[in-house]
Amino acid sequence: MEGLMQNHEEIAEYFRIHGVSVIFLFRRNLLRRMISVLANEYDRKAKLLNGTHKSHTHSVKEAEILAKYKPKINATLLKQNLRQVNDTTTKALGYFKSTRHIILYYEDVVKNRTKLLDVQDFLKVPRMDLKSHQVKIHKGSLSSQVENWNDVNKALIGTHYESFLHQDH
Ligand SMILES: *[C@@H]1O[C@H](CO)[C@@H](O)[C@H](O)[C@H]1NC(C)=O
Ligand SMILES: *[C@@H]1O[C@H](CO)[C@@H](O)[C@H](O)[C@H]1NC(C)=O
Ligand SMILES: *[C@@H]1O[C@H](CO)[C@@H](O)[C@H](O)[C@H]1NC(C)=O
Ligand SMILES: *[C@@H]1O[C@H](CO)[C@@H](O)[C@H](O)[C@H]1NC(C)=O
Repeated sequence: MEGLMQNHEEIAEYFRIHGVSVIFLFRRNLLRRMISVLANEYDRKAKLLNGTHKSHTHSVKEAEILAKYKPKINATLLKQNLRQVNDTTTKALGYFKSTRHIILYYEDVVKNRTKLLDVQDFLKVPRMDLKSHQVKIHKGSLSSQVENWNDVNKALIGTHYESFLHQDH
């Protein structure tokens, strides 16, 4: 992502010349995204220590073990971090607006599998029934997934990020 942002002009030009299309996959709930990122970082480090890294969690047992880990979120920096993610996203969309692209939101795909047909149409591949074999690590409410939910709650109540606290897809 960093390289993409720093060298966006060259990359957009490369995409244009080579006819590359881009799929933007975002989350609407940036708080959930942050929790996911922290959990994945933990997962990666834990796996690295053990010598093997699997980025996709295929075993339910493994997923359960990982789900026990609860990240602690720095509440002081939270709003600032959320704003940064929003800014970066907005910038990225600006940089690549003339690249052929499709924007997908994770929440929409989960709710509405028809979105995946849109992607296949976008990619101009024949429509197939796509089933994900990935096991979702986090189940249940956001509040149960963070070590210091009270701090997070306090930091976001009354801000325009407040809805992130309540949205469980
Ligand atoms: C790492 O390996 C140890 C010993 O084999 C095991 O007990 C532990 O659960 C593993 N941890 C992870 C995160 O896979
Ligand atoms: C949050 O991050 C700031 C800046 O890095 C740091 O000064 C502060 O101690 C952190 N707070 C917690 C609770 O870790
Ligand atoms: C960034 O935040 C603004 C204001 O809350 C919102 O309208 C916009 O959709 C957000 N952008 C992204 C890319 O999430
Ligand atoms: C599901 O997605 C399709 C394709 O994007 C859209 O046409 C349809 O209105 C969506 N359905 C709902 C219930 O949101």
